[in-house]
Amino acid sequence: MERKAVITGVGHYVPPKILTNQDLAKMVDTSDEWIVSRTGIRERHILEGKKGTSFMGIQAAKMVLKERNIRPEEIDLIITATVTPDTFFPSTACRIQEGIEAWNAWGFDLNGACTGFVYALGTGAQFIRSGAHNKVLVIGADKMSAIVDYTDRTTCVLFGDAAGAVLLEAVETDENIGVIDAILRSDGSGGEHLYMMGGGSLHPATYETLDKKMHYIFQDGPTVFKFAVTKMADISAEILQKHQLSGKEIKYFIPHQANLRIIDAAARRMGLDDSQVVVNIQNYGNTTAATIPLALSEVYHQNKLKKGDYVVIAAFGAGFTWGSALLRWAI
Ligand code: UT7
Repeated sequence: MERKAVITGVGHYVPPKILTNQDLAKMVDTSDEWIVSRTGIRERHILEGKKGTSFMGIQAAKMVLKERNIRPEEIDLIITATVTPDTFFPSTACRIQEGIEAWNAWGFDLNGACTGFVYALGTGAQFIRSGAHNKVLVIGADKMSAIVDYTDRTTCVLFGDAAGAVLLEAVETDENIGVIDAILRSDGSGGEHLYMMGGGSLHPATYETLDKKMHYIFQDGPTVFKFAVTKMADISAEILQKHQLSGKEIKYFIPHQANLRIIDAAARRMGLDDSQVVVNIQNYGNTTAATIPLALSEVYHQNKLKKGDYVVIAAFGAGFTWGSALLRWAI
């Protein structure tokens, strides 16, 4: 019998406030037609009030605990993938630990940008397989509205706020189930194309960094697009080949939701038809580390996943970072 890392619960949180393409067309020089045809996005959700990313992570984690019917004290570890932590420190994971009262857990934030959830799931699974922990909460959460410049039409139409969470548990079994594999990559030479320059140790906040809008996200869209299309398609196909699976054997492909055209390119490479590809970008835009667990939670709660189903997740983001994971559903 082998010790497997199995997803036993999934949850998400989306703030109620909706920002539509029509709303954005009143704020910057853009149109619903441009946004839909170039990205697939129709609306996104925005977290209002004095709330940070941890607020959304706490709601998503509480949904998981409630549905799985376990006490927060049973959680051993909380990994929070985010690029919009409430604060640099303490970590958002510590804030979530307090919020859900997981008093026996430790935790940390993981910055893998849009690939954050895939990195965090791969990392969490290792803590389980190694025998270190039995119950790990893996959360992807981002309040992108906190770092978006709503006068920059090239980025403000793309992003939204949300959180998703999964519970990984140890299961001793001979069955090939749970998080079967994760292929994780990065290429730091891509850093100049997608970043937020200000606020870190290189460019601490000054009047100058504020004037130069360095506390906002910058993206060279076409360059990132070019890399994303190739890398996400390659790594999605690679994980299938590695496990000798054909596209037909996959129940769902759940890609990072940055651009419908990037998703389509990856799905084509894997030989999938539309019914196998989970797309919700029209409703939420790019919620960075939250896109995949949010989509997974939606599919699960629509009762579309059955025990034994193969699921592939894949993402590409700032760094550059990219990765894919193969899951075999077990609940
Ligand atoms: O999630 C992390 C990784 N990120 C990604 O994967 C995103 C990758 N990039 C993309 O998805 C796409 O590059 C974008 C959606 C960001 C942009 O689409 P594009 O087809 O690459 O457009 P573009 O940037 O080449 O811009 C085409 C034109 C430009 O005008 P000119 O220079 O041709 O006159 C832009 O100024 O569209 C203009 N444009 C807009 N027009 C209306 C850019 N943003 C907008 C806008 N509304 N919001």
